[in-house]
Amino acid sequence: VVNKMIIASNFKTNHTRKSTREYLIKLNNFISEKSISNIDIMVFPPSVAFDNFKDFNKHIDIGAQNAYHTIRGSFTGDIGKEHLDEFNINSILIGHSERRTIFNETQDLIDLKFKFYSSYGFKIIYCIGEPLEIKEQGIEKTIDYLENQLKSIDLDYKNLIIAYEPIWAIGTGKTATLNDIDEVHTRLKNIIDKPILYGGSVKACNSKDITDIKNVDGLLIGTASWNIDDFCRIIDIVNL
Ligand code: PGA
Repeated sequence: VVNKMIIASNFKTNHTRKSTREYLIKLNNFISEKSISNIDIMVFPPSVAFDNFKDFNKHIDIGAQNAYHTIRGSFTGDIGKEHLDEFNINSILIGHSERRTIFNETQDLIDLKFKFYSSYGFKIIYCIGEPLEIKEQGIEKTIDYLENQLKSIDLDYKNLIIAYEPIWAIGTGKTATLNDIDEVHTRLKNIIDKPILYGGSVKACNSKDITDIKNVDGLLIGTASWNIDDFCRIIDIVNL
């Protein structure tokens, strides 16, 4: 079975509810006009932009960038599953490097989130990636590091998608080379039989070369996806 390509946009701390709606309207129109059917499109807006997405959810899978492993409760500043249920959101990013490094999410916390949201059948994009000092120690050290981020989660979980995002390539404009991506994805495929997305400074000009790599099943895009025309262009290019 050939899996569909997956292209995901991670808004991070960008877009309001208003601009998210405008973005989704344009994206939805674009997908219908171009009859894009061989790519699964996902969008991760900030949680304050969650809304009734029923006009869009035929073509676009809308997910959460983060949530706490609870239905509700006393976790000031965080949201729970109830807030996702209100808008029929069934997809979530877990383990993004910005959560790991800026918000100091430990692997233990990430494991709890994974267990909780997988127990409800969420589609999970689980993010892994090595820092520059590990990359500089070579491929074996890099794979060890990534394996360590994978070892405590259920790799057989049916709604699991992996995103390989080398930390040094995120938001820096420095994309991994095609060889780097090929090598890491090939090694990862030997460990885990799930779709593996690449993320880290993906843009229109490198998107096709990256998705043409055999073991790349899609893209997780930040910066270059925030402008709707740029994102549509990437979808168009990958769709060729
Ligand atoms: P970037 O972010 O495309 O801006 O590098 C990717 C990500 O963090 O998912």
